[in-house]
Amino acid sequence: MPDLYYDPYDYEIDAAPHPTWRRMRDEAPLYRNERYDFWALSRFQDVLDASIDHETYSSARGTVLEIIRSPQRAHLQSMIFMDPPEHDRLRGLVSRAFSPRRIAGLEPEVRKIVCHYLDAQVGSGGFDFVADFGAKVPMMVISSMLGIPEGDRDQIRQWMDQLLHREPGETHPEAHLTEIGAKTFSYFAGYVAERRKAPRDDMMTDLLQAELETSSGEKRRLTDKELLAFLMLLAGAGNETVARLLGFAGATFAEYPEQRANVVARSALIPNAIEELLRYEAPSPVQARTVMRDVHWYGTTVARDSVILLLTGSAGRDERQYPDPDRFDVERSNVRHLSFGYGTHFCLGAALARLEGRVALEEVFARFPEWEVDWDRVERVHTSTVRGYAKLPILF
Ligand code: HEM
Repeated sequence: MPDLYYDPYDYEIDAAPHPTWRRMRDEAPLYRNERYDFWALSRFQDVLDASIDHETYSSARGTVLEIIRSPQRAHLQSMIFMDPPEHDRLRGLVSRAFSPRRIAGLEPEVRKIVCHYLDAQVGSGGFDFVADFGAKVPMMVISSMLGIPEGDRDQIRQWMDQLLHREPGETHPEAHLTEIGAKTFSYFAGYVAERRKAPRDDMMTDLLQAELETSSGEKRRLTDKELLAFLMLLAGAGNETVARLLGFAGATFAEYPEQRANVVARSALIPNAIEELLRYEAPSPVQARTVMRDVHWYGTTVARDSVILLLTGSAGRDERQYPDPDRFDVERSNVRHLSFGYGTHFCLGAALARLEGRVALEEVFARFPEWEVDWDRVERVHTSTVRGYAKLPILF
């Protein structure tokens, strides 16, 4: 048996991480990586306990290994990189734009976007489930929520893809990020300025007009910097993750045709199938934290200021939590998973992601009840944040 080794930058492990994560859960539930100087927790209960305890496991220095190590942490204005109480103030404000009512109201628009991409493929014999569909839908949805003009949406999506891309072992990607980051930032800056001058009935205008209560009890509006940080967060967090979820749907249903036939016959199973997909292949499988005091796990002390990775993707396959965890089962009962995170930073866009996933699958199954994947032409994304397919050609 080779030595147990894990890091989030290794392409081979990323392509098939489950055997490694299983060994970590069994042999090294507190795992140590000397090369990149981090610890990792991989069992469901441990990941959950650490996720809740934000005082000990802080997000304030970043939640991605290389960001925590980066000398320039300019992007830390984002609430995903804050601890309470700063985090809660910002989250309280932006949550209104993501209320269940607001999200439910988006269904017709989401369906329109989904149908637009799928209708174009009817009778084509095959298409790229990610590049032609899964990666396009979420950016269009968020952009439409924000009121971004249709002509600009593809460009923003491409910039976000480039911002997340990592070469193997690329732990200090600042150089290639600076230029694209600057372009994205300047686009959004222009957009915010325009909306300030001419308010409209969209989420951007809501955010511009919303008031934040400061620690001294005063009220103020969001600064441009805070707004930009939020836009960048949405464009990244809401775009890449859903694209990966849909990619995993295209791949997993092709691998399990009997499960697919079951859902095609009974569309009421789709919401549960989405939860099962999220458990089975987490689009965002690693959340990094900085340890704020010495902690003890499995007889070892993890010193204050260490970086610890919470492997939410491994938690979804923990045999201590799920019977037969490597089986994909759209009828699995009680699919409670940590793939949207847990506690303070629980995914703000979870309801939106679930809506997009459900509508996408409803419309895919209505047109293409069966398909196969052309595995020789499949490509993966290479990032240390999201995991999944960049290209997934299918044939039907
Ligand atoms: C399948 C799709 C998605 C997955 C798997 C996912 C996953 C996650 C995870 C794991 C976290 C927690 C990160 C942490 O604990 O450090 C998170 C947070 C977040 N997600 Fe998602 N996400 C998805 C879709 C979305 C969408 C559609 C949006 C918005 C349009 C979104 C916006 C956010 C935001 C703003 C946060 C930060 C919340 C906070 O700091 O309080 N996500 N997401």
